[in-house]
Amino acid sequence: MSTLITGIGSLVTNDPGIGAGPLGLVEDAAVVVDGDRIAWVGPAAAAPAADESFDAAGRALLPGFVDSHSHLVFAGDRTAEFNARMSGQSYSAGGIRTTVAATRAASDAELDANLARFLREALRQGTTTVECKSGYGLTVEDEARALRIAAGHTPETTYLGAHVVAPEFADDPAGYVELVTGEMLDACAPHAKWVDVFCERGAFDGDQARAVLTAGAARGLVPRVHANQLSYGPGVQLAVELGAASADHCTHLTDEDVAALAGSDTVATLLPGAEFSTRAAYPNARRLLDAGAAVALSTDCNPGSSFTSSMAFCIAVAVREMGMTPDEAVHAATATGARALRRTDVGTVTVGARADLLLLDAPSHVHLAYRPGVPLTAAVWRNGVREV
Ligand code: NIG
Ligand code: FE
Repeated sequence: MSTLITGIGSLVTNDPGIGAGPLGLVEDAAVVVDGDRIAWVGPAAAAPAADESFDAAGRALLPGFVDSHSHLVFAGDRTAEFNARMSGQSYSAGGIRTTVAATRAASDAELDANLARFLREALRQGTTTVECKSGYGLTVEDEARALRIAAGHTPETTYLGAHVVAPEFADDPAGYVELVTGEMLDACAPHAKWVDVFCERGAFDGDQARAVLTAGAARGLVPRVHANQLSYGPGVQLAVELGAASADHCTHLTDEDVAALAGSDTVATLLPGAEFSTRAAYPNARRLLDAGAAVALSTDCNPGSSFTSSMAFCIAVAVREMGMTPDEAVHAATATGARALRRTDVGTVTVGARADLLLLDAPSHVHLAYRPGVPLTAAVWRNGVREV
């Protein structure tokens, strides 16, 4: 079954070979979806026939958002912590333990239903690919079940046993790293594509992070790192050295960190929801882009530091507060997000790509930043199926 989407006022392809600029913009465009893939892209006037047709009525079509960093297997929330923070308290990694307690107490069915609800919430806002981490279990069984549950919904699953030291190991962090790199890794690796570590004061130092990432890599998991979020530190350099797909947060960077990212294949994934929700200074996307680093945007959706599933919100904040142009932010939320997940089948509207598409209730992708907080989703296709 093929569908011709025609009357597209403005199409973001993310292929400079197809259209104008880095976004590969085509005006008065059409797209043919065949099964779960894009079969044709070009000017509406030249479009081939298809079984069905859909009139975009002059609105903008773009690749579905690729949200490359989330923590969605959890129970409970942290309303009280957020409220206290907005009344002046500061954020610390320790709050993670509150969610760990609630998550451990939840049933599999409850965690699965929570995850499904958040993924649906994201889909309604145009997000068609979501990476999902463990990290609120911190026991062998609880981490493995988090990843098992996540793997039922997305192939982009990340083992984050090294989120914080489990409360049982408060006096023996080395023992916890041993567990994370040993028995817990054995139980989790079959359900995970990635390995991650929160490299930060109050979580794991550079040596511990290296041990976690290299142990994961030895089991075939590809590294990604929570790096330089709350303070300067070794996370970014470690990510680059170990060939991580992405260094995430990148809020506190030295010139050497920026140069290392720019000279590598490691994507700098910025998570403005975290700075928004912790009332912290935003990362400087302009500095990274000007140096030549690849920059992705993602929600970091989690109950502690960034409880938003909205990629549009992240785009708007990145444009207003982090020095990105609307074009750069949209590219970061689609094509570069895909790159951060080493995916070539999502993040573009090109022949052969997955038919993951977001139709906006707006004539241009620029409206994502220009009309902050406004629900602009007109339709969403995932794998060629109209979902919204
Ligand atoms: O990415 N930085 C570590 N992990 C999350 C926070 C998780 C939490 O506070 O529950 C983050 O911001
Ligand atoms: Fe995170």
